[in-house]
Amino acid sequence: MEIVLSGIRPTGNLHLGNYFGAVRNFVRMQEQNQCFFFIADYHSLTTHPKPTDLHGNVKQVLAEYLAAGLDPEKSTLYVQSDLPEVAELYLILNMNAYVGELERVTTFKEKVRKQPDNVNAGLLTYPSLMAADILIHKAHKVPVGKDQEQHLEMTRTFARRFNRMYQEDFFPIPQAYNFGAELVKIPGLDGSGKMGKSEGEGNAIFLIDDPKTIRKKVMRAVTDTGPTQMNQPKTDGVENLFTLLKVVSTPDVVEHFEVQYNNCIIRYGDLKKQLAEDIIAFTEPIRQRILEISSDDNYISRVARMGAEKARESGAATVREVREIIGFRHF
Ligand code: TRP
Repeated sequence: MEIVLSGIRPTGNLHLGNYFGAVRNFVRMQEQNQCFFFIADYHSLTTHPKPTDLHGNVKQVLAEYLAAGLDPEKSTLYVQSDLPEVAELYLILNMNAYVGELERVTTFKEKVRKQPDNVNAGLLTYPSLMAADILIHKAHKVPVGKDQEQHLEMTRTFARRFNRMYQEDFFPIPQAYNFGAELVKIPGLDGSGKMGKSEGEGNAIFLIDDPKTIRKKVMRAVTDTGPTQMNQPKTDGVENLFTLLKVVSTPDVVEHFEVQYNNCIIRYGDLKKQLAEDIIAFTEPIRQRILEISSDDNYISRVARMGAEKARESGAATVREVREIIGFRHF
């Protein structure tokens, strides 16, 4: 069985874009792989050295992923800082990570621009920590978005370098997990590109949004003044609403509005009402589960402890072997 691993940033709530982009695929991945999912709370210190309510954020993220279908029995679901062994592997990998190559990483250069007053060593060595996350469980596959490809490439570099340096075929060289066609790109509601939490108020629909909020957001979505010719191409905002409709509604509903659009008799208000109700039908059960789980501290603690135990079993074994390979011995 392949080992698949992914890190999750403890920032913000899950929106429909996250759900159809990655989360739903995580849920599927668990069936055929040995999966590790962790919340990257050490990483978050690179940008938020004094996080406000880190514990609360981690808890909420855990609750949302559990509600979305991550199964703590099938996967190892843990908090990064509950596996302190990763810090030791990070230290060791840093001894063979060159400052020059770390400085050339795109995300580092971006961060230097964004936070010039806090260019800390953690930012520079972000790729070594990410490599440690992956290599500590000897993962084969890592589902990554475009923005993380360079980090994964660095992980491969570090793994190969370690293997070469110590003349051991020790770390597997991790590859990107390809979702292929199953990756559905979800557009936002503001007529621009994809759904994202940073795109501005009202662009994203979160799994925790209540029905009233969802109706309000959808009703405010960007459209146009309506088609004036048969089969007229759609403007971006309208196209986006149809894309969303295809994801949450039945084919006959989509067909109904397509025909109306093509015959110039569509009323966007009707489309939006239908879209809002179909989104709610989809998100409401998940929202109820989120509320249930996030109010059950005992359950969340149990999940986190179980995950920590499984992660440490796997991680400690790797670090023990690494120490052995390097030549650290007990006296
Ligand atoms: N850097 C990833 C992100 O920003 C999060 C992450 C940390 C990660 N460690 C990882 C992802 C290991 C995959 C594997 O989204």
